Amino acid sequence: MHGANALQIGLFGANCSSGRAVTLVAERWSGNWPDNKKLAVLADDAGIDFLLPIGRWKGYGGDTDYQGTTLETITWATGLLAATRRITVFGTVHAPIFNPVVAAKEMVTADHVGAGRFGLNIVVGWNEGEFDMFGVAQRDHEDRYAYAQEWLDVIKMIWSDREDFDFDGNYLHMKGIKGKPKPYGGARPVIMNAGASPTGQAFAVKNCDAFFLQASRTSLEETAQRVRKAKEAARAQGRDIGCYTVGVVTCRPTRRQAEDYFHHCIVERADWNAVDSILAMKDISPHTVPLEEFLKQRSGYAQGMGGLAIVGDPDHVAAQLADLSKAGLTGIAISLVNYLDELPYFVDEVCGRLARMGLRAKARAGIPV
Ligand SMILES: Cc1cc2nc3c(=O)[nH]c(=O)nc-3n(C[C@H](O)[C@H](O)[C@H](O)COP(=O)(O)O)c2cc1C
Repeated sequence: MHGANALQIGLFGANCSSGRAVTLVAERWSGNWPDNKKLAVLADDAGIDFLLPIGRWKGYGGDTDYQGTTLETITWATGLLAATRRITVFGTVHAPIFNPVVAAKEMVTADHVGAGRFGLNIVVGWNEGEFDMFGVAQRDHEDRYAYAQEWLDVIKMIWSDREDFDFDGNYLHMKGIKGKPKPYGGARPVIMNAGASPTGQAFAVKNCDAFFLQASRTSLEETAQRVRKAKEAARAQGRDIGCYTVGVVTCRPTRRQAEDYFHHCIVERADWNAVDSILAMKDISPHTVPLEEFLKQRSGYAQGMGGLAIVGDPDHVAAQLADLSKAGLTGIAISLVNYLDELPYFVDEVCGRLARMGLRAKARAGIPV
């Protein structure tokens, strides 16, 4: 991303209804355009580094049809880039369902609207039901990344100085390819990926600038090891990558208030029917995993389909984020139950503390909502 913050912070999932909190509470995130636009302007003014959307085409059902209403991410990013000045905005693109020539053109358009602030999150997809809707057969896992490699190669070629080239791969056979304009300012958009399997990770390390990995919930040293391993793998290919992770933040003036709110949203008022539908898609049930593991996964999915739960007062939240930086992470994409209501407090109190620790530029206090 473009900012100079040692620990970068982004907002994850705001293009989807309910964001990443599988909850029934009335204040859950709308995901509508007016709220997204207000949030982007607020985040931009507050010095937040990036906005990362989720590429989702179908909701998960349950009582809220969790993530059932979503804004398409490249068009969402384009609108937000027009409304902001400095923040990086990603589009999350499913390689198998976007023709690469169309995708390259859409992304370059977004990049020009944002004067170089568009980023690509390339995903290969995992949800069969979504693919059925497109009439596209999902490939087996290894093939998905082999296809994504060709897809990205074509896109990078279109964005480079090459003109009128043919591409004859195992999957893509294309002739006389050209695409203008080139990305804004002569540098291609930043590319990220969050592959978790060995194949997915190898793809990310080979192709991406930013790699999202899972931080350990129990050991900072384990997180540090994961970061070191990814960076070393990139260095072995002569590349330098930034490592990021995902978190779900509940920050309130006292630890007790934060824990109570977290419990209220994500336990008492969780949309358990939606959680169970997500688990079923991933084939996680008491029949496939031990009961204890199933219950752990169930509560993990309710609080944002995974990611570190960071719950506490501003001192605690800032200390946890600082620890992630110590583990070598470049940044974190966080979600909040209601992004607009909760961001000003997070920026004033948590980003303020991180600034005093030297991890971020001075936060802009007192942002009007
Ligand atoms: C930060 C982050 C964002 C992701 N965004 C999406 C997304 O929008 N759509 C999607 O289908 N998968 C998304 N994924 C899933 C990953 O791209 C990837 O498929 C998943 O981590 C499993 O890894 P694997 O593909 O190597 O098996 C995301 C994962 C993370 C951690």
